[in-house]
Amino acid sequence: MLNKPAFISLFTFALCAFIGVAHASIDNTAAASGSGDPREYTEDSILYSSRWEVSADALALRKAKKNYMLHCATCHGPNGEGDGELAELLGEGITPRNHTDAKIMSQRADEDLRKVIADGGDSMGFNAAMPPFSTLLQEEEILGLVKYLRLLCKCKGKDS
Ligand code: HEC
Repeated sequence: MLNKPAFISLFTFALCAFIGVAHASIDNTAAASGSGDPREYTEDSILYSSRWEVSADALALRKAKKNYMLHCATCHGPNGEGDGELAELLGEGITPRNHTDAKIMSQRADEDLRKVIADGGDSMGFNAAMPPFSTLLQEEEILGLVKYLRLLCKCKGKDS
């Protein structure tokens, strides 16, 4: 049997080693995801990656997904396919954009998407059924949503 002081110092050593390894793995994930490109993530990796593997980018996307479910899915659908519950009630010929359509979404610059979300559809010549969110959401949350849209379309903006 170990005596008490020896046990305590062994325990402390093991604890320090564990903390050291945990820190190193956080640093590694942060460095690995340094590009911040949302296409490197999947729905699964932002939602289900283990605690030590979650990078700042994945956390921001996770928050954006929450906002999308809360504010956008009613029209754009939970998977972004333009088939939300309200979609049919918007009026003849008004269809919420299918955010998974890479053909259309890759023709938009990130800045175009940001502006539509902040100032509404009519600010960019789209239908005013797309509401403005600048009073409801912080600038940072809107930028997060733009990144989330890039995850949904698995595409880049025309500016990047
Ligand atoms: C009340 C329904 C409704 C809600 C809620 C809504 N949208 Fe829309 N959205 C629309 C409609 C309709 C259009 C298409 C307008 C058109 O085609 O003229 C649109 C268009 C867009 C576009 C423009 C796509 C393009 O082609 O450039 C973006 C980006 C967008 N929505 C993002 C969002 C985001 C993000 C949210 C949540 C924060 C959201 N929308 C919430 C109805 C909605």
